[in-house]
Amino acid sequence: MIAMAYKVRFVNYPEHYKRIWGEVRGAIDECLSKGDLIARKQLDDFEANLAKFVGVKHALGLNSGTDALLLSLKAAGIGKGDEVVTVSHTFVATIMSIVFNSATPKLVDIGEDMEMDLSKLDDAITRKTRAIIPVHLNGRMTDMRAVNKIAKERDLVVVEDAAQALGARVGSCNSGGTGLTGCFSFYPAKILGCAGDGGALTTNDDAIARDIKLLRDHGFKRDTNELVMYGFNSRLDNIQAAMLDIKLKHLPDWIRRRRGIAAMYDKGLRGCGGLKLPPGPDNSGDYLDVFQNYVIRSEKRDKLNAFLKEKGVETLVSWPKPNHLHPALGLTRFKLPMTEKTSQTVISLPMYPEMSDDEVKYVVDVLKEFFEKE
Ligand SMILES: Cc1ncc(COP(=O)(O)O)c(C=O)c1O
Repeated sequence: MIAMAYKVRFVNYPEHYKRIWGEVRGAIDECLSKGDLIARKQLDDFEANLAKFVGVKHALGLNSGTDALLLSLKAAGIGKGDEVVTVSHTFVATIMSIVFNSATPKLVDIGEDMEMDLSKLDDAITRKTRAIIPVHLNGRMTDMRAVNKIAKERDLVVVEDAAQALGARVGSCNSGGTGLTGCFSFYPAKILGCAGDGGALTTNDDAIARDIKLLRDHGFKRDTNELVMYGFNSRLDNIQAAMLDIKLKHLPDWIRRRRGIAAMYDKGLRGCGGLKLPPGPDNSGDYLDVFQNYVIRSEKRDKLNAFLKEKGVETLVSWPKPNHLHPALGLTRFKLPMTEKTSQTVISLPMYPEMSDDEVKYVVDVLKEFFEKE
């Protein structure tokens, strides 16, 4: 396959690694020269630093964000006959984690900010409901103050899908910090990405942390050599953990840069061609958004997207068809008008910390050019 030469890429991995290559190479060297490949000190260090960053007692490295969700529900004892409330406007793994635990997904619509519409939550909760999975999409949190309040009143478990929101906050709630568990993805394009697949689960619950440690490692208790349950292979590789630990130190700067880029987009695009923009970083009240993605909405999405591509701007549409409209998933009974409308209008613009001001300006100019012609 021939890669198109974009003027502005959606994310730029070569540039990212060029800037931190010295540090990353050192970490890889150390792991390889010592033979530290699985469940060694570098993993422990990363887990301790991640727990501190999120503000929780435990962080456990896993092989993906998908497994963090899957194992969270399993450790919480969710299974057949249980209902779990979440959204359709998410990566399919959120819903899969419910189905593969033999429970039933109950999908609710999203609001204007593309997060779960919490005014619809009450209606979705039945006697069978056991858990809620709010998805903190695009680097913005679902309001965990409200979610936790409802969950407490209705005695429900909360599993935060924080795959897209490490470092985000609403009020005093850190992303992944106040649910029973927080689930993070370190897929390369994520705000904290590794060189392949990776994920983590955060929790303040000692029993959940103990079970996840077993579930990720075949149910094997390493200190006593005992198999105490059936488990999976869902470990985070040591080299990935060592690299993530280095990157975690840069994360506050990278978040600042993402917010700076969002402010430039906001200033350049406000009022342009009827575009709907996300709240600007300095205009979002109690929310601290980390802009995993900068998602704009336009009624002319497909034409606009084609124009951006023609001008060399790489974009992403997440997602062109909502999960519940894929017949194979067996969810077509849900009617979610806002989700359906949103999937027809969204485009994610390039967003990564290494993006230059000139590149941001170029994207803004291309968008303006499009709407001047329209
Ligand atoms: C909202 C959301 N949930 C879950 C996941 C799954 O994470 P992973 O790709 O690490 O399995 C992702 C990642 O793409 C995601 O964006």
